[in-house]
Amino acid sequence: MMRTASSPHASAFVERPALMLRAQDVRKTFTLHGQGGIGIEALAGVSLDVERGECVVLVGPSGAGKSTLLRCLYGNYLASGGSIAIRDDDASEQHLEITGAAPHDVLRLRRNVVGYVSQFLRVIPRVATRDLVAAPLVARGVAQSEAHARAEALLARLNVPRRLWSLAPATFSGGEQQRVNIARGLIAGHRVLLLDEPTASLDAENREVVSSLIVEARELGAAIVGVFHDEDTRERVATRRLALTAPRAQTALNEAA
Ligand SMILES: Nc1ncnc2c1ncn2[C@@H]1O[C@H](COP(=O)(O)OP(=O)(O)O)[C@@H](O)[C@H]1O
Ligand SMILES: [Mg+2]
Repeated sequence: MMRTASSPHASAFVERPALMLRAQDVRKTFTLHGQGGIGIEALAGVSLDVERGECVVLVGPSGAGKSTLLRCLYGNYLASGGSIAIRDDDASEQHLEITGAAPHDVLRLRRNVVGYVSQFLRVIPRVATRDLVAAPLVARGVAQSEAHARAEALLARLNVPRRLWSLAPATFSGGEQQRVNIARGLIAGHRVLLLDEPTASLDAENREVVSSLIVEARELGAAIVGVFHDEDTRERVATRRLALTAPRAQTALNEAA
């Protein structure tokens, strides 16, 4: 496993018990192979530390690389350079280097430590909403009946009508799907939360519910990195902001080298 011994972050996670996530000089260049190998530089060296109880809000114009950074932190995109480390769990001084980690280590980290909520629900056909929301708890060994009870409580709080709970969300409205997505992302009490515009398709009342849930998670000690499209939500949840600016929009790879 790519763990502490060889990691440049080992001492930081030992010396700072509250440190949950450390990203250093993260770079990401997309290569468009179909278009003459044009390189799109999306992140040109981003660094951030996030401790328990912090919510770092990423700000910057469209195309600044906010979603790309969150995907790199989650291990969906492989960073082109730099390093990303996330503490394994609350009690441990161990951490996982996301870049270079084995897939099963990344999956274990997602089950136990890191949650991610994207703007859109990836609908899984024919799975009932209640089961979709309960799944992250069941994966962590919580009994089905308790997981269902907690899923229902969260769906109720998010104003998802009870008649929808036994249906698959494929036919739900955008806002309903978004709230199912948020319930699924927040139910397991992950210690690190990555949130990419989770309130984009919600009305003011439901945005307020989601803001409250995020603040509660933060106050329980979650380390959060998020993007929020409206200033009210940013104001409510942020403990700190990190501005991203789009690097050079496009460069031919040979120029960039
Ligand atoms: N999968 C991808 N393939 C190619 N280019 C991408 C990909 N994802 C993002 N980009 C590019 O990276 C840049 C940053 O995008 P993104 O992270 O989505 O910005 P933001 O979330 O701040 O609006 C944009 O120029 C975008 O076109
Ligand atoms: Mg985005």
